[in-house]
Amino acid sequence: MIELDKNNIPEHVAIIMDGNGRWAKQQNKLRIFGHTNGVGAVRRAVSYARQIGVKVLTLYAFSSENWNRPEQEVSALMTLFMQALDREVKKLHKNNIRLKIIGDTSRFSAKLQEKIAKAEMLTENSTALTLNIAANYGGRWDIVQAAQQLAEKVKNHEMAPEEITEQTFQQHLVTQHQPLVDLLIRTSGEQRISNFLLWQIAYAELCFLDVLWPDFGEKDFNRAVASYQQRHRRFGGTE
Ligand code: IPE
Ligand code: IPE
Ligand code: MG
Repeated sequence: MIELDKNNIPEHVAIIMDGNGRWAKQQNKLRIFGHTNGVGAVRRAVSYARQIGVKVLTLYAFSSENWNRPEQEVSALMTLFMQALDREVKKLHKNNIRLKIIGDTSRFSAKLQEKIAKAEMLTENSTALTLNIAANYGGRWDIVQAAQQLAEKVKNHEMAPEEITEQTFQQHLVTQHQPLVDLLIRTSGEQRISNFLLWQIAYAELCFLDVLWPDFGEKDFNRAVASYQQRHRRFGGTE
């Protein structure tokens, strides 16, 4: 493991957890076997983020485009999500981790929506780490839903059009008052964003790893943060 600079830990890390299907295929198993084995990698990522002092960890679990997958895979993913909520929420609470599900949850079953609400309520005062799980999330959807909220406020005279600024707009994204993404990691070797956080990654450092998600561990996370710490972020300025 590479020694990290404790004064330069990314505040917000976002991860596109990709490669479950390929991982399963390598062992001649069904894709869902890969998803099931991805849960362990989620645990390792959450625990390592908390350990090194990351404040917000956002994991891309299901995109708004993932409904295009075979029905069988989608429903297996939903079941897995429910099971994970049932099994992990108490542990999150015990570890002082706040859980937020970000995405259009209205398309989920009533039962799942209820579980989500309960889990969020149980952990809402936790302060060690905020864990955002992006489920039925799309970066474009996020921007559109913010615009709708603002339009509604202008229509109701709660806000003037000129009060729509980058700052107020940002506060209406699902990440609300959280810091913007400092480090974006994608596993599986693909180098694209796939409609993940769009606004929030404007100045994120990008890190693409070849490891397939079920194999992702502390060593990989550590390497990504170490790489982040080598970068010179300029935000458009000079050094
Ligand atoms: C990521 O793994 C998990 C989800 C999108 C739910 P994939 O299922 O995309 O795995 P690959 O990319 O097909 O290997
Ligand atoms: C992005 O992965 C979504 C998640 C990891 C949840 P995909 O596997 O769906 O993305 P594409 O299709 O390769 O762009
Ligand atoms: Mg994929």
